[in-house]
Amino acid sequence: MTTRNVAVVVGSLRKESFNRKLANAVIAIAPPALRMTTVPIGDLPLYNQDLETESPPAEWVAFRDAIRGMDALLFVTPEYNRSMPGALKNAIDVGSRPYGKSVWDKKPAAIVTASPGSIGGALSNHQIRQSCVFLNMPVMQQPEAYLGHVSDDSFDDSGCLRDGPLKELVTKLAHAFHDWVDMIHRSRAALAEDSAHNAQAAKAHA
Ligand code: FNR
Repeated sequence: MTTRNVAVVVGSLRKESFNRKLANAVIAIAPPALRMTTVPIGDLPLYNQDLETESPPAEWVAFRDAIRGMDALLFVTPEYNRSMPGALKNAIDVGSRPYGKSVWDKKPAAIVTASPGSIGGALSNHQIRQSCVFLNMPVMQQPEAYLGHVSDDSFDDSGCLRDGPLKELVTKLAHAFHDWVDMIHRSRAALAEDSAHNAQAAKAHA
């Protein structure tokens, strides 16, 4: 069983955030082969290309280093005004630069959006997907996680998810995410091996 390091990025900065509690639920439920670490985004200075100098802000450097060392990403976030929260977009932008050095590149990902509303942050979810396409991140397709009607009642006094359909979906998602991350990394390794074999075979026939 290969251990995969997963960065969990939460799009809400609110202390009592439902999305943070859901992220913690996924961390608690996920198979042990996923070593999940929350990477904070709240103190990242707003992205400004002018600061992309020899000494960019220390917070950017630390964030990029943290994500670079990970094997996969889990985004858990609300929807703000039918789009992703600015703090999350800023984090995505910070990680994507300098050009050609994006720390997101090739990392498998999953996106969970949650809201007290009925559409569960679906538009935020798909906006993040759109960025992930450009950033070359293979995003898990199923199960989709637009978690609607999330409220204080979804959690017990210690902040854990109560038993019920929401917990069932989160459990399914955590296991599917493990399989997704594993599949992407194993396929990539197999492809690399194929390329090496092909290159060798081509040399032998030259
Ligand atoms: C919201 N909220 C919200 N909800 C939604 O389903 N669609 C939306 O577009 C928005 N827009 C929005 C904008 C702003 C600025 C705020 C502060 C809130 C409500 C939002 O889902 C709710 O506050 C959640 O509780 C936020 O998630 P956390 O902080 O609990 O994780």
